[in-house]
Amino acid sequence: MAKYKIAWLPGDGIGNDVMEAAKIVLDELKLDADYIPGDVGWEFWKKEGNPLPDRTIKILKETDCCLFGAITSKPKEEAEKEVSAELKEKGHVYSSPIVRLRQEFKLHTNLRPCKAYKGNPLNYRDDIDLVVFRENTEGLYSGVEFHPLPKEVMDSLLENHSKMKRFKEIPLEDIALSCRIFTRKACQSIVRQAFEYAKKFKRNSVTVVEKPNVIRETSGLMIREARKIAQEYPGIELWETNVDAMCMWLVKNPQNYSVLVSSNMFGDIISDLCAQLIGGLGFASSANIGDDYALFEPTHGSAPKYARQYKVNPMAMLLTVKLMLDYLGEKELAQRLENSIAQVIEEGKVRTYDLGGTASTLDVAREVAKKLS
Ligand code: NAI
Ligand code: MG
Repeated sequence: MAKYKIAWLPGDGIGNDVMEAAKIVLDELKLDADYIPGDVGWEFWKKEGNPLPDRTIKILKETDCCLFGAITSKPKEEAEKEVSAELKEKGHVYSSPIVRLRQEFKLHTNLRPCKAYKGNPLNYRDDIDLVVFRENTEGLYSGVEFHPLPKEVMDSLLENHSKMKRFKEIPLEDIALSCRIFTRKACQSIVRQAFEYAKKFKRNSVTVVEKPNVIRETSGLMIREARKIAQEYPGIELWETNVDAMCMWLVKNPQNYSVLVSSNMFGDIISDLCAQLIGGLGFASSANIGDDYALFEPTHGSAPKYARQYKVNPMAMLLTVKLMLDYLGEKELAQRLENSIAQVIEEGKVRTYDLGGTASTLDVAREVAKKLS
């Protein structure tokens, strides 16, 4: 029996192309693993009215972790239109498989390293080495939303909060409400992981990115917990920055920052900003980590216009594989893979279209594999 069981979920579009690239590198590394393929994505929404079938959830439950390509998702109207005729009007509602997986497997931590590898012509600067910790299951993406606002919710808000009065005369169908829910436990967990990471990798600061001067209760809770936790890490400074200012600072002086930590939506936004500083979607890797399970995915989507053309950059996926190896405790393999990736980027001989090259997705993977041996 192999040492690891890894759920293998290519998904849609270029998810397939980059997963093939991942396999080339994993085979060269001779990772002792069985890869168990699973169905996910738009195709299964159309055929079965469920983009994340139960059999796939079962596979995840029986594996150590999951490597995920990308999926296509479309707005409500198109989802309803494209689902197969016999499933129409049977009450199937599309919901994002990746959001579901994060919630179902309690993948509370989204880790996104954004490091500028030397020689990448898309780097904003060459001295950027950021790591974003984003809370992954609650905040503004908790999914607790109303439209129209139910009368009992309005009444309760009026009763409990004086600031609600100015909305009193507005018709309920003209009000939408999305709840930003923070729990102390999740705030503590994400901040602690950021500090643990800083400690382990000898980083000297952790910046908590929120907006506590305005969003006093939720952002406030995060900051208050961060201040307490920071006291346990005397060698690491806690910096507090408002999310709007952070966007400015990241464009002005990204090299001054190291570990960033934030809630779900702000973390989503700043991690995209950080990713672009080091070359964008072709380089942005991510890990979704929980207490018992983890799922690894490049941050790009399914880029349908490039599907099955083997044109896109696999580096985001290969860096994602590196994160998976780290998680599995295969430090030596992870380091070798990162070194090979860095070498291929620096040499600049084998490049996909986004870097001005003509190499295919699989050419790049084979070049990385060659450097491993
Ligand atoms: P996308 O990330 O799929 O592609 C946007 C553009 O970025 C592409 O057309 C391409 O020019 C470039 N690009 C993306 N990945 C690249 C790579 N590896 N190398 C080089 N260039 C790359 O985003 P888009 O077009 O907004 O969404 C397409 C579909 O993907 C949608 O259905 C969307 O919902 C879904 N999506 C899925 C995600 C996921 O699986 N986690 C994340 C983001 C979008
Ligand atoms: Mg995003």
